[in-house]
Amino acid sequence: MNQKIALSLALAACVALLNACQTNMTTTTTTEALTIPKILEIAKQTSGYTWYKKSDAYLPKNAVSGHAEPLERTRYDATAAMQLDANGKVKAGTVFPEGSTIVKELVNADKTVNGYAVLIKRKADPSADADGWVWGYVTAAGVERHPLSSKGVGCIACHSISGHIDRTLMNVSNP
Ligand code: HEC
Repeated sequence: MNQKIALSLALAACVALLNACQTNMTTTTTTEALTIPKILEIAKQTSGYTWYKKSDAYLPKNAVSGHAEPLERTRYDATAAMQLDANGKVKAGTVFPEGSTIVKELVNADKTVNGYAVLIKRKADPSADADGWVWGYVTAAGVERHPLSSKGVGCIACHSISGHIDRTLMNVSNP
C-alpha cells in the first residue's frame, strides 16, 4: 500500500467516526423525555396490541408478582409482538427492539382497571435504564405510582429473577 492510499483510508475512517458521533449526539439530544401523562396515553391505547398467549383473560395475581391488584393482563404493541412465538409467549433469548411497548393492565376484582405498568424500549430517553427500558407506573387517573426518574429502581431487582427475558417476567409467572 503506498502512502497516499494509506492516508486517504485514514481520512475516510476519521470522517466515518465523526459522522457516527454526530448521529449519536442528535438522537440523544432530540429525544423528548416521556412523561407520566404521555405514558398513560400510550397505556390506554389498545389498537394494534397482541395479548400474552393470545388471550385477553384476566390472570390472577400470583406469588412472585410485585403488583398489588388481584387481576392483570399484558399486551404487546406491534414492535414488541414480533418477539412472541406462535403461542403468544416471549421467545427465549429475546432482546426487545427500540420502540417496543409492553402494557400490563392492573385490574381490580370488579374488572375495572386500577392502573398500568408499562415498559417502553427507548434507549435515549433520560428515564431509560441500562437496558434501554423506561419503567412507567401510573394509576388509571394518571397519578405517578413510582418515580419515572428512578429508571426502574425498585422494579428491576424483581424483574431480574431467574428466567427473565430482557427483564420481562410473563413467561416466568405464566408459563
Ligand atoms: C416483587 C416483584 C416485582 C416488582 C417489584 C415489580 N414487578 Fe413487574 N412484574 C412482576 C411479575 C412476577 C410479573 C409477571 C406478571 C405477574 O405475575 O404479575 C411482572 C410483570 C410486569 C410487566 C409485564 C411485562 C413482563 O412480562 O414483565 C410490566 C410492564 C411490569 N411488571 C412493570 C413493572 C414496573 C414498572 C415496576 C416498578 C414500578 C415493577 N414491574 C415492579 C414482578 C414485579
